[in-house]
Amino acid sequence: MPLSQRWTLTRYLIEERRRFPNASGDLNALILDISLACKAIGRIVSFGVLGDSLAPEVTAAGGAVNVQGEVQKPLDVLSNEIFLRMNEWNGHLAGMASEEMETPHQIPGNYPRGKYLLTFDPLDGSSNIDVNVSVGSIFSILRAPQAVLDSGREVTVDDFLQPGTEQVAAGYAIYGPVTMLVLTVGNGVVGFTLNHNLGEFVLTHPNLRVPADTHEFAINSSNSRFWEPPVKRYVDECLAGKTGPRGRDFNMRWIASMVAEAHRILMRGGVFMYPRDTKDPSKSGRLRLLYEANPIGFVMEQAGGRASTGRQPVLGVKPSSLHQRIGLVFGSKNEVERIERYHHEPAEREPCNPLFAERSLFRD
Ligand code: AHG
Ligand code: MN
Ligand code: MN
Repeated sequence: MPLSQRWTLTRYLIEERRRFPNASGDLNALILDISLACKAIGRIVSFGVLGDSLAPEVTAAGGAVNVQGEVQKPLDVLSNEIFLRMNEWNGHLAGMASEEMETPHQIPGNYPRGKYLLTFDPLDGSSNIDVNVSVGSIFSILRAPQAVLDSGREVTVDDFLQPGTEQVAAGYAIYGPVTMLVLTVGNGVVGFTLNHNLGEFVLTHPNLRVPADTHEFAINSSNSRFWEPPVKRYVDECLAGKTGPRGRDFNMRWIASMVAEAHRILMRGGVFMYPRDTKDPSKSGRLRLLYEANPIGFVMEQAGGRASTGRQPVLGVKPSSLHQRIGLVFGSKNEVERIERYHHEPAEREPCNPLFAERSLFRD
């Protein structure tokens, strides 16, 4: 298709807004600023060690530790700064929260405050940066509570603790062989590819749908000894292949970069699991609810897939803290539903007493 006939991200947003004659255009402008931040991050990522921010002397210096207790890469910090600077001035946000900041970012006093909240993971999969595997940025847009708009007060953590069903828009940018932006504004999922000549995201995937069935699953199996029985059962059945209860062979993938896994699943189906496990009892999962699980969950559901904690739809969970972690299973609907079923079945069969749990001496 000639370039002149392709929609840009701007055109897509304008055409979408026409469905809502009273819309102010703030959301569109916000999404365009987010997309600009993503373009800036993607460009830095693409320079690799040739860029100042990835020069060996910078990366060798090591990073600080973020609120998650994880070592920050220089690019984590830089990407976070880019998101903040490119979105704090526009008057569309009341505040922002990110993986890299312990508390919400307030809009500086010299800029107007707006009606939306933005949460983001500025660089997902950043442990893969040095090995040149696809990484990305994940974002979620919520409405600021009415009390914030009425009072004009600063945002608090509580203002962000809204279930994923409240998201107005969400998506991710993936910095891979091609840079893409995948977006939902609650009307399906669309994908844009960055045209480097124009510096524009152009609509290349107008209707992304996750196939309901799949024979591909993704899980970090080095954690298998910590899995709960329903997850172990599901994976064992996949591994048993043709001769097992599923009656067909499965394929396994693990990139360790959730945006890359989510993107593969959007393109050809599959199921991703980072379930709650017993590795660290103080953490109820690996991935973060507000800026990883919810935006990816919204995209999956809007593409006809499913996103779950393993027990319930992830978008229905009321967050309890800004950096809350959660078990996450998403992708092809029928597989996610099967995993949920497995979580509910043993609970009915097994008594609560841990002495009688799956691997106990007293199991009958
Ligand atoms: P981040 O780089 O933002 O900290 O997130 C990394 C996440 C996610 O992208 C990936 O699926 C998972 O961590 C990888 O976990 P393992 O290290 O257990 O493979
Ligand atoms: Mn992440
Ligand atoms: Mn990150």
